[in-house]
Amino acid sequence: MNKLLNELGTRPFSAAEYADIVRLYTPETAAALAARADAVRRTHYGNAIFIRGLIEIGNICKNNCLYCGIRRDNAACDRYRLTDEQILACCEEGYALGFRTFVLQGGEDSAFSDARLCALIAAIKAAHPDCAVTLSLGERSHDSYAALRQAGADRYLLRHETADATHYAALHPADMSFDNRMACLQDLRALGYQVGCGFMVGSPEQTAETLGKDLKFIEEFQPEMCGIGPFIPHAATVFADQPAGDVGLTCYLLSVIRLICPRVLLPATTALGTLAEDGRERGIRAGANVVMPNLSPPDVRGKYELYNHKLSTGAESAQQVADLAKRLAAIDYVVVTDRGDYKKEG
Ligand code: 5AD
Repeated sequence: MNKLLNELGTRPFSAAEYADIVRLYTPETAAALAARADAVRRTHYGNAIFIRGLIEIGNICKNNCLYCGIRRDNAACDRYRLTDEQILACCEEGYALGFRTFVLQGGEDSAFSDARLCALIAAIKAAHPDCAVTLSLGERSHDSYAALRQAGADRYLLRHETADATHYAALHPADMSFDNRMACLQDLRALGYQVGCGFMVGSPEQTAETLGKDLKFIEEFQPEMCGIGPFIPHAATVFADQPAGDVGLTCYLLSVIRLICPRVLLPATTALGTLAEDGRERGIRAGANVVMPNLSPPDVRGKYELYNHKLSTGAESAQQVADLAKRLAAIDYVVVTDRGDYKKEG
């Protein structure tokens, strides 16, 4: 195999070398890297797949990201915000189903103030002291992140979206800043969160060069978690007519990320499962080790529509969790019930 591919993960690469890695993608190189990534993942986590209960707490968002279905300007979006009681009930239900991580995800909505979120996090932690709480609520101030951490939040997901400032500006309105995005990730890291970054594969104006920068950023930042999934157009956005990202390339990039961050917690994302019926299984075989079934109340699930036809694989019944476990057992993985923390070295 190509020398560069062989050296992947054995030494730091430049962004230009990562761009070459991206260009080397073919079904054959993808299969070879997937085998290596699977082996690396097994050294650290065996065949365990971690499950996270995803609770979409609201789709009200002050931002107007050009790709996103819940962007501010989408007047057709049916907005909702869960109550604290509803969120706690989701956790209760999830706990009974075996979930030990709850991910509170939502748009940037000032109604979710620090005071409210801190009380909510404390309540979840009091009810379920053996569970991890992950937040995915966008950009907030350093002091806000500090307060939420203090209240008990363990992890934070904030996709960097792209590590190229010009590309960032092509995906976001002028009132959003690449520098602030990156500063948020540094703040989260400094505050002791397990931090997740990530990006979409096939977003408009993405190139091998911008992906090379994403991979270089990930190599240097060494996130504890990394969310990548294909871009999927949403009819009510600026990018309605843009093509969706490629499932095969997404899986190839999952393998690359596994090789450069051997212990990273890497989800096979909903977007991957949306574009291909067996997308999540393919992601896991390529090196992913996390699945995030939806614990949101069934009546709001369709409303968290980041992109069209979004899959909302529910976990509201033991049957659905058992089905997921069965699908993964069929490809030789075991769904485990524990917090599934990042494994530190040593
Ligand atoms: N296709 C795929 N992923 C999307 N996201 C937002 N819109 C889309 C889309 N159209 C992802 C972004 C964001 C996360 C909430 O979902 O990466 O960070």
